[in-house]
This record gives sequence, structure tokens and C-alpha cells, in this order.
Amino acid sequence: MSAADKHFVFLNTIYSQQVAGQRERYQQALQLFRSLYGEGEVHIFRAPGRVNLIGEHTDYNHGFVMPVALDRDTVVLARARADSQLHLSNVEAEFEICQFEITENIPLAPNNHWSNYARGVAQHLKHRLSRPIKGADLLVVAEAPWGVPRGAGLSSSSSLTIAIMLALTELNGWTGSTAEQVQLASDAEWYVGTRGGIMDHYISLEGQKNHALFLDCRPVAGSYQSQPIPLSEGYDLLIINSGVKHQNVGGGYNWRVAACRAGVGLLKAQFPEITHLRDVQSVPWEVLEPHLPEKQLVSELTAQGTDLDDIPTLVPEAVLEVRAKCRHVHSENERVQGAIEAMYQGNVTRLGQLLSAAHLSARDDYDISCAELELLQSFLQKQEAVLGSRLTGAGWGGCMVALSKRESSQELARAVQAYYHEATGIVAETFVCQASQGAGLLTTLTV
Ligand code: GLA
Repeated sequence: MSAADKHFVFLNTIYSQQVAGQRERYQQALQLFRSLYGEGEVHIFRAPGRVNLIGEHTDYNHGFVMPVALDRDTVVLARARADSQLHLSNVEAEFEICQFEITENIPLAPNNHWSNYARGVAQHLKHRLSRPIKGADLLVVAEAPWGVPRGAGLSSSSSLTIAIMLALTELNGWTGSTAEQVQLASDAEWYVGTRGGIMDHYISLEGQKNHALFLDCRPVAGSYQSQPIPLSEGYDLLIINSGVKHQNVGGGYNWRVAACRAGVGLLKAQFPEITHLRDVQSVPWEVLEPHLPEKQLVSELTAQGTDLDDIPTLVPEAVLEVRAKCRHVHSENERVQGAIEAMYQGNVTRLGQLLSAAHLSARDDYDISCAELELLQSFLQKQEAVLGSRLTGAGWGGCMVALSKRESSQELARAVQAYYHEATGIVAETFVCQASQGAGLLTTLTV
């Protein structure tokens, strides 16, 4: 082993495949870091994206999810600065270099600028520190094919947020529990504009090789319960990117958060203790349904006392489909619990059925599918090699995940690509999920 290779032994642990390519990726990034910021010490952090096997839009309702950390990730090279400036560069030229002062009130950069995730992390870390903050020189490395595909429902923005958070917290000596780190990262994404849950940050931090992670998104005494669940031997999770880009920073996502909150507001009359839909998970749906209107105006809901003021893009004349949205959350939590049981029993047939049922609920009740995803779903459902499939992530595009027989995965990938290209003209990226470990500091070296 050469001296250079010794620096990169961690690659063998993290990446199951194409380690030589990864080594080149890291080496090039180090060279670029040196040319941008000069010689000296560099810390390398990494945070994976995720595919969610089942449990969609349940996290912000304090429900159940079952994501898997991917070997597609965001890497951040970092060095502390003597001042409190954050200097941000990216190996991809389309992301412009920028810098800003870390204060308690950092202005958002316009037009969903990529630096907003770093701004959010920096501002919220600053709030948590009782001493002056150290700035940093950062280089972000998330290019294809190694990075998390963007706008694909695989949590590229959360992996960026987590990698930057780990860099800034490490350089500033801030150590938080997983729940505290997750909270800091969620605050950073709220700063950007998404009223999302904690799933993406949690799995990025806590993912385990060859495992899915069952996560209960209800905090108990300041922490979360999670449990790694081995992925089924002999089966793959094939990920198919529809190429239709989705954006969480927009109406669709936040309106659904609002519909769930409206459901909580309305159920309070019967269940005064309820704070999240999770609180009525053990109540049969038939009992809940009569209390939830099919549709209701935001102005009426707020007049009745539901607090929706902090939800961006929500207007008083918006109509929320309260019943269907709450029904999805209720049934999805049941499916996640069924999935754990099926996985422990090695019952892949049952697991597949639950995935396909989750797709229908996401499509019909949560209304987060789109024509391209439906094309993919109808094709996948007809394949003998597929036990079940569903859209994954927030929806409105992004990826499908299919549970497929391992010996047929490659052939399935080719077939679905050919079909989709013929139907839409889009070349769908496909890859088999390699469940990887969670985020962290990989190494510190000198360039
Ligand atoms: C996005 C959010 C998550 C979660 C999913 C939907 O990825 O960031 O918190 O709500 O959508 O399950």
C-alpha cells in the first residue's frame, strides 16, 4: 500500500463498489481545495443521501419511516478560518463561489441559491454557541455519478446540509446528540423554506451498511428510537430516477403539512391531548374519519383555531384536502409496521405488497404522483422480477424504488429504461441501492 493509499483506507469501508473511482474523486477534490484555499490541514466529511423504503410523509406527523442510507453522498472538505466568514466553493462550476459573514441573522440568498443550506446551518449553529464562531473554507463535492442525484427525492439537500453541519460543528467544537444534530439540520432546512420532518437528516447520520433503519419520528425525552433492519438477502432495491425534478421549497409539500396539522386541530375536540396525527394512530380510521372534512378552506381552519401562520406559500383561500391526507398518514404508519414484521419474517412477498399499496395511497390520497411516475409504476407492476414498487421521497417526480429479485435486477433496469425512453424520450438513471453507513468525519490530512 502506498503512502497516498493509506490516507484513503476508509474508502473500502464506505463504498462497496468502484473504490478506485472514489479515490480519484477524493484526490481531485483535495487538489482543488489546495488551489482554492492554499496548503494546510483539511478535514473530510461525508453525508449520504437516502432512499425511503416505506413511510412517506409520516415523519412530520411524528410517525414511522424506514429509509436506507445510500452510497451516493455529499463530501465536504473543510478548514477553519481565523475570522467568522464562511467561504463556499463547489467542484461543479454551475454552483458559484460565495462567501458570507456568520451572524445570528444571515440573509437568505435569492432564487433558492445553493448557499442557503450553508447559511441556514451557520445561522442556527451561531444561535447555539455561547462563544464567537469560527468561519471555514469549504469545498462541496457531490458530482455525478458519486453525488446524490439532485431533485430526485433522494435527499440531496439534506446530505448537503448534514455534511456542512458536521464540518462547522466539528471546527467549532460543538458536540450534540443525534437528536440535537437532527434538530440543527432541520432548523437549517426550515430557514431555506421547507417545513419538512427529521427522516432525511436522521438516516444520513445514522444509516448502517446493508440495513434499512426503522425510525420512530416521535421524540421521547429528547431522543428518537430507531432500529436497523437487515435488507433481504437475494433481493435488490432498484432505484429508477424518472428525471422529473421536484422541489420541496414550494406549495405542494407545505400544503400537505398544513392539511395534517388541520386534521390535528379538528380532532382535538374528541382527542384533546393530540399534538400530531401519531397520537391517534391506535384509533381505528373509521372512528377518526367522520371528524375530518373532505375539504376545508385555510381561512375557516385558522378561524377555528388551527395555527397555520408559519407555513410558507399557504394562502387563506387555499383548500386543504384534510380527510385524504390524514387517511394516508394513518394507513402508511400501519404499512411501515407491517413492513418491519415482513422483513423480520423474511416475507418478501408481503413486503412487496406493502410497497405497492403505499404507492397507491401516495397517489390517490396524498396526491403526490405524476404521469411519469405512473408510467414507471404500471410497467414495474407487470414485471415478474418485481415484488413491489412505489414512488419514494416527497413525490411529484423523482425516483421509484422496486424490490426485485437480485438475479433479475440488471435485466429489469435495462427493460424499464428502454420502456421509459420509448414512452417519454427521457433516459432514466437506474441503480441498485447499496445501503451505506451514516455521515461522519472521515479523515484529517495535510495538502
Ligand atoms: C422530504 C422531507 C422528509 C419527508 C419526505 C416525505 O424528503 O425532507 O422530511 O417528509 O419528504 O416522506
